[in-house]
Amino acid sequence: MADTPLDELTEEEARAELASLADALAAANQAYHTEDAPEMSDAEYDRLKRRNAAIEAQFPSLKRADSPSDQVGATPAEGFAKVRHSVRMLSLSNAFDAEDVADFDDSIRRYLGLGPDDALAYTAEPKIDGLSLSLRYEDGALVQAATRGDGAEGENVTANARTIDDIPQELDGATDVLEIRGEVYMSHSDFAALNERQTAGGGKTFANPRNAAAGSLRQLDAGITRTRPLRFFAYSWGELTRPLAETQMQAIARLDALGFQTNPLTALCKSPSELLAHYARIEESRATLGYDIDGVVYKVNDLRLQGRLGFRSTTPRWAIAHKFPAELAWTRLDAIDIQVGRTGALSPVARLTPVTVGGVVVSNATLHNEDYIAGRDNSGAAIRDGKDIRVGDWVQVYRAGDVIPKIADVDLAKRPADARAFEFPQSCPECGSDAIREEGDAVRRCSGGLICPAQAVEKLKHFVSRAAFDIEGLGAKQVEQFYNDGWIREPADIFTLKDRFSDGLQRLSNRDGWGEKSAGNLFAAIDERRRIPLGRLIFALGIRHVGEQASNLLARHYGSWHAFNAAMAEAAPCDGAAWEALLDIDGVGAVLAGALVSSMNQEAERASIDRLVAHLDVQDAERPQTADSAVAGKTVVFTGTLERMTRAEAKARAESMGAKVSGSVSAKTDIVVAGPGAGSKEKKARDLGLTVLDEDGWLELIGT
Ligand code: IVH
Repeated sequence: MADTPLDELTEEEARAELASLADALAAANQAYHTEDAPEMSDAEYDRLKRRNAAIEAQFPSLKRADSPSDQVGATPAEGFAKVRHSVRMLSLSNAFDAEDVADFDDSIRRYLGLGPDDALAYTAEPKIDGLSLSLRYEDGALVQAATRGDGAEGENVTANARTIDDIPQELDGATDVLEIRGEVYMSHSDFAALNERQTAGGGKTFANPRNAAAGSLRQLDAGITRTRPLRFFAYSWGELTRPLAETQMQAIARLDALGFQTNPLTALCKSPSELLAHYARIEESRATLGYDIDGVVYKVNDLRLQGRLGFRSTTPRWAIAHKFPAELAWTRLDAIDIQVGRTGALSPVARLTPVTVGGVVVSNATLHNEDYIAGRDNSGAAIRDGKDIRVGDWVQVYRAGDVIPKIADVDLAKRPADARAFEFPQSCPECGSDAIREEGDAVRRCSGGLICPAQAVEKLKHFVSRAAFDIEGLGAKQVEQFYNDGWIREPADIFTLKDRFSDGLQRLSNRDGWGEKSAGNLFAAIDERRRIPLGRLIFALGIRHVGEQASNLLARHYGSWHAFNAAMAEAAPCDGAAWEALLDIDGVGAVLAGALVSSMNQEAERASIDRLVAHLDVQDAERPQTADSAVAGKTVVFTGTLERMTRAEAKARAESMGAKVSGSVSAKTDIVVAGPGAGSKEKKARDLGLTVLDEDGWLELIGT
């Protein structure tokens, strides 16, 4: 029998159905568990779990104490298939004032070699506060919709996107591949009505239209998405068989002609001052638009120039988001708590009497570090006119977009008479070890290392996080549970979990929240991750300053775990050839290198890493995609005047093709590109017998 549509389900029916689903799923678990012969197919089991979750989402108050949803495994959030974006979905860098906008224009001119009076046009359009979505059309038919995810991989939400009226299912006259990108959002009136409906039905309400849009799009049951009034503005694109147009303005007109909604406030501007004037116009109309925007996006109009400008690691050089000023509110500081992070940093957190800032209820804010609380910056100079922050104070909360709210100011006139200056702890509140602040460091750190439970747990959470091991079914919550029970103390323990108990599966299945099926799934997910790419492993180690990008850089440089490991041991004295080679990697500075080498050679840390790696099959790093370009791996020096592009552009282009650009000529140099006026560097190159090219020769070599 077909399921009753959720919006037709009465409360009575929902309660009865949840009870029967709990029974059916428990019976299925039981059959699987005792008879070793499941009565139900996996697909049917998953379908029932999804139906259960969908009813619970619609009627949260009816959720049962023994809800099958609380069993770890196929939780709703894990239910979407992953989609790899053929062209990455990037974010935008930000500008906050007129000076930032002038800098944006200057840097583009510099990069392109344009003078201050050369024509350079931009578009300016509202920055919609929703979530981005990529729509793939093949031969005119919508075949896939994917969220941004981490930019490289998103979630497949095709069925959900098909329920949105603003998204055409077919594009007239379009052929081949056309990937259209834009923002899914919810209007103010639809948001208010949805929250009213949710309240009336005892359902969950949303903090703001953006959360409502995200929560509505990311539903496993597209039937729920259909009942949510989502909208879509198109403003960008990914993979295309043929270019859409020659300019951004024309491309927007094309999108419009194809049947997409495009933003009517998009304008062409010929100078930074015209950009600022349009920004002011959009800001003025903000209150009457009927949907949330959080700034204005500026883009270089000429698509050929966009192509030349290209991308930094996560943002385009040809666009910027000019954000609206942050929102402010005053409230009481009730307490200051200290949180201990993965690298031992003691972070003060303000606990506030809840206050609404720009439509969002805020009850926590960051206080940065002890100097910030005391009213000084890292160099000892006064901030906030030297006013310190005390528990009980009346404080100003500041919230800009998505970032964690901050405390901006304090009102001394409202300070309670008994408020005392905050004493920053000198020992770790979690393990009691000394908390030490090294010279030049703004942060006080717990010296307990792995004996500190807070550090150990945070390290484990980082280890299983999305960009690291990303083990399905093992998230922050489960790691905490396992740590507290002593089942997992360090990353290596994850991989021995099953073997440490001959009856691992049975023991896990008997625990709260775990069933035979979810336990089996977890062990399978762990096994799947024994094979891990080198970059992910390095990132997962959670070493200070070593982020995702640096980890991948190191992986590509060293290629294998063996080579990386050996180089780290050799670099231990922070001197000598291995140390120099590490510093030579473009993007690795002394601070990162120091943290990396000291961590990799610290005794307890080292032993823990060795125990971990014994369980892994570390995959060598993929060679950069540019490896087959003619200049991959070559060291190039540019000298003299370049006439067809600027130095910055030449350097970025060479690096994007896998070359290393250096400022000086030596026997290690492979190619010297010499323009007019080249002097001693060209001479030295010729003396050394190196390849010397003129600019045209270089462009030919890289195929431009
Ligand atoms: S252009 C290559 N235009 O803002 C990047 N983005 O903070 C192309 N956004 O991820 C993005 N309105 O989700 C662009 N008019 C607009 C936008 C917009 C909202 C979002 C988008 C992006 C985020 C970056």
